[in-house]
Amino acid sequence: MKEEKSPFFYSLQTYKVESYALVVGVYLLMVLGGYVKSIGAGLACPDWPLCYGSLIPSAEYWFIGNEKSLATFNWGLWSEFTHRLVALIVISLILHLFVIALKNKDEFPEVKLVIYLFVILVILQSVFGGLTVLYKLHPLIVTAHLGIGIFTYTITLINAFVIHNKLRQ
Ligand code: HEM
Repeated sequence: MKEEKSPFFYSLQTYKVESYALVVGVYLLMVLGGYVKSIGAGLACPDWPLCYGSLIPSAEYWFIGNEKSLATFNWGLWSEFTHRLVALIVISLILHLFVIALKNKDEFPEVKLVIYLFVILVILQSVFGGLTVLYKLHPLIVTAHLGIGIFTYTITLINAFVIHNKLRQ
């Protein structure tokens, strides 16, 4: 007869898949952030948390000039907006991991510190991301954003390692 799997087993599986997705997502964010910075597009969305006053900037901002073609495509806006969008996905993933960890805190205590650190870091990182824009790329704020980003990625790797080990036991 097939063995029944417990709800905890499925929670751990979800936690594992989302933790691995997070490793990819945060890495992508760091690379995208570096791209935004290197093409000087940090203020391509001049406001925050909205972009040109709306959730998705209207069509006129996606092109430079009146002609709509690949040659006039506003890559700065694309990369900065995608950076924000991926950040939103990453934040949602971390909050979902937090909910799973809380629900299973007795069976899965290993992750407690990691998950609290995660939530604090990702909130801090988003605030610093916003301040980067509001303070027009002040060097100290951009540096803090990079520093917290590196720390967040380290925690992402530790978290993936913890769940990987837990499932091997
Ligand atoms: C978990 C979330 C995030 C991570 C890990 C992250 C990571 C990074 C990294 C590594 C850079 C490159 C910094 C450098 O090369 O000095 C960057 C740049 C940037 N990020 Fe984020 N970021 C996150 C969220 C956000 C959010 C929510 C915003 C909101 C506006 C934002 C806005 C920016 C901007 C404007 C830049 C370019 C700075 C410049 O041009 O000097 N980031 N990000």
